[in-house]
Amino acid sequence: MSILLKGGTVVSANGSRQADILIEGEKIARIGSRLDAKEAQVIDVAGKLLFPGFIDTHTHFDLDNGVFMTADNFETGTMAAVAGGTTTVLDFATQNKGETLEEALENWHKKADEESSCDYGFHMAITDWNASVKEEIPVMTKEGVTSYKLYMAYDSLRVSDSEIYQVLKAVAAENGIVGMHCENGDLVNEGIAEEKAAGHFKPSAHPASRPDTVEAEAIYRYMAIAKIAGAPVNIVHLSTERGLELIKAARKEGQKVYIETCPQYLLLNDETYSLPDFEGGKYVMSPPLRKPSDQEALWRALREDTADTIGTDHCSFRFQGQKDYGKDDFSKIPNGAPGVEHRPALIYHFGVREGKITKEQMCRLLAENPAKLFGMYPQKGVLLEGSHADIVVWNPEQEWVIEAKTQVQNVDYTPYEGIRVAGRPEMVFLRGEKVAENGEVLKKNRGTYVHRGPCEYF
Ligand code: URP
Ligand code: ZN
Ligand code: ZN
Repeated sequence: MSILLKGGTVVSANGSRQADILIEGEKIARIGSRLDAKEAQVIDVAGKLLFPGFIDTHTHFDLDNGVFMTADNFETGTMAAVAGGTTTVLDFATQNKGETLEEALENWHKKADEESSCDYGFHMAITDWNASVKEEIPVMTKEGVTSYKLYMAYDSLRVSDSEIYQVLKAVAAENGIVGMHCENGDLVNEGIAEEKAAGHFKPSAHPASRPDTVEAEAIYRYMAIAKIAGAPVNIVHLSTERGLELIKAARKEGQKVYIETCPQYLLLNDETYSLPDFEGGKYVMSPPLRKPSDQEALWRALREDTADTIGTDHCSFRFQGQKDYGKDDFSKIPNGAPGVEHRPALIYHFGVREGKITKEQMCRLLAENPAKLFGMYPQKGVLLEGSHADIVVWNPEQEWVIEAKTQVQNVDYTPYEGIRVAGRPEMVFLRGEKVAENGEVLKKNRGTYVHRGPCEYF
């Protein structure tokens, strides 16, 4: 059965044009004007924008933080993703201490396979580096994993500078990329201890314990190590202007540094931590929310094409029963917030409609760049003949309100509660099949594993 999307505006990173799209099976068969296909089901999409299915390259589903499992697993997290227009997620398979990477990968396949409602791939988070793990890097490439994450903070996850250096060299040899959680772990520990010693236990102590320089120092150190290793790097969840300026300086010297930021760092700031009744606990994530001046700098980075991708860092914990574990001690609040469902609508409304970025830039940040950097292009991330028919039919006018009570995410709050936005995915096609409509999932469990290739260092 073929489907003909008629009369929409096809959006790409380089421009938009009015065209019809003919879907045959899982792929886009033709794009052109006044297409005709006798057998096809014709869907009138006049007045709608046709985006490539959005890609969220930063989710944590079914993650054990040592005390709690995240509220969203692959079943609920990927349903929330497609409901909001995201057709592919890259989640962080995380190696436990003593585990091989193959064991970690198998573990994540068990969590995701047959459960997922959008396509999915994995970055590998390495926490226990040694000579035999090094030998597994080419094995990971064969398994379709070409990107990694390391942590410079969190005592149970972080690695040393020499380990970072070795991982970078091993991954660069495979044309892969290493994303880094850039916070100086020692300084974070000092900051937490000092806040507590001063009697500060509320959520407002969280940003105080991890100031912007803690991120900036780690970014600088990471880039210095990468320079010596001769490796390109990705800075995930960039939150500060200070860090951004250091990256710009390194790029001027010829270094390949990619930047991911997230909706929360663009749209929310550290005033949230002072909300009464422990409401600030909802926003405890790392790095923390920052100042309005940081938000402005990050928007500027998007507008000037300095930042490359927008991921969510979706890491959801329920407010009741999980976040409130840290009601009397901010350092016990599980870190992270939900976002996978609402990223496209938030970026469209606050970015495109408010004139901060163009719809073509949104397409580049949420689809094309993620597909290129993480080895999925042109199968995904772009609407081309032969590409996967992952298509979002975007109604640019539909107004709606983001609310926990209507969201698909399996969590009892959203950081964006009550925000009215214009623009919504009216239909979402995953490899040719309509899987969601107006925020509701029509077909579950249609996701398949994305075996990714080498990274494109654009
Ligand atoms: O607070 C956050 N972001 N939790 C998720 C883990 C991470 O560092 O990305
Ligand atoms: Zn992180
Ligand atoms: Zn993360």
